[in-house]
Amino acid sequence: MNKAKPFLKWAGGKKQLLKQFENLYPDELKQGKIKKYIEPFVGGGAVFFEIIQKYNVSYSYISDINKNLILTYVVIQKKLFKLLETLEKYQKQYHNIEEEQRKPLFLSIREDFNSQKSKINYKKLSDKWILVAAQLIFLNKTCFNGLFRLNSKGEFNVPFGKYNNPNILDIDNLILVSKILQNTEIVIADYKSCFKVADEKTFIYFDPPYRPISKTANFTNYAGFEFTDREQIQLADFFKKLDTQKNAKLMLSNSDPKNENSDDSFFEKLYDGYNFHQVNANRMINCIGKNRGQINELVITNY
Ligand SMILES: C[S@@+](CC[C@H](N)C(=O)[O-])C[C@H]1O[C@@H](n2cnc3c(N)ncnc32)[C@H](O)[C@@H]1O
Repeated sequence: MNKAKPFLKWAGGKKQLLKQFENLYPDELKQGKIKKYIEPFVGGGAVFFEIIQKYNVSYSYISDINKNLILTYVVIQKKLFKLLETLEKYQKQYHNIEEEQRKPLFLSIREDFNSQKSKINYKKLSDKWILVAAQLIFLNKTCFNGLFRLNSKGEFNVPFGKYNNPNILDIDNLILVSKILQNTEIVIADYKSCFKVADEKTFIYFDPPYRPISKTANFTNYAGFEFTDREQIQLADFFKKLDTQKNAKLMLSNSDPKNENSDDSFFEKLYDGYNFHQVNANRMINCIGKNRGQINELVITNY
């Protein structure tokens, strides 16, 4: 049977790490003793889709601070058919025009998407959400590298991508995704909002924005503001609070600063006393040739 997979390409997506992650999930998840799954930095949700379809959890909670991203999950959950209709219009429009007309179409949808922000009530689902969700999916499929990035004004600013046949309307996958989301609580929120739902039968996977590996590395701005070392420190405090007060199983990943500087023990100090694991990631550190290729990613667990 086909499985639901992420419907967006997302910076920091964990698709390529899923196999290695499998060995690092808590035994209780594999034994069916974990009943809740929480992913507070859900992004494209590669780990979420994997866990929900592989293990027997009865409740899941996903959140992200990126409002338009979460709005799109909610639209897929609650207004799938209207979303498919809108995507079908975009798909036809895109494929029926000459190649040189595609870039202007992309730019006008991008402009419209950016101008919607101030008009949306993110607290109440409305038909306006459907258009924003369709535009986000359209832009993700047709922009350069298929990414979502915002500038300092919070505007989506990725250029046109020039693909011959982008799959703007992936009906089969969106139907599968919608089914999965029927049992999921989807929340626009800071990661700390998950505290109230966690308990000792919960597994939480944290995938915060990467700590930039070097000062020159490009910083990925997902939501219009930065995740600095101060935020990494606050997140570690939150991890400890969940560990001691909720007894939940916790797993967190981040870039390993030792890729660039073997003396950088930032995470070892922050998560002193927890378990450290390494996985291989094919990420590029920066544009300098010698630093390309295999680098490590850290996984920290409390079990
Ligand atoms: C590394 S990405 C997650 C990638 C995801 N695991 C995947 O496979 O696509 C980090 C996510 O954290 C979100 N984020 C940043 N700051 C946040 C905060 N304070 N609370 C919740 N989410 C936040 C970003 O919007 C982004 O989607």
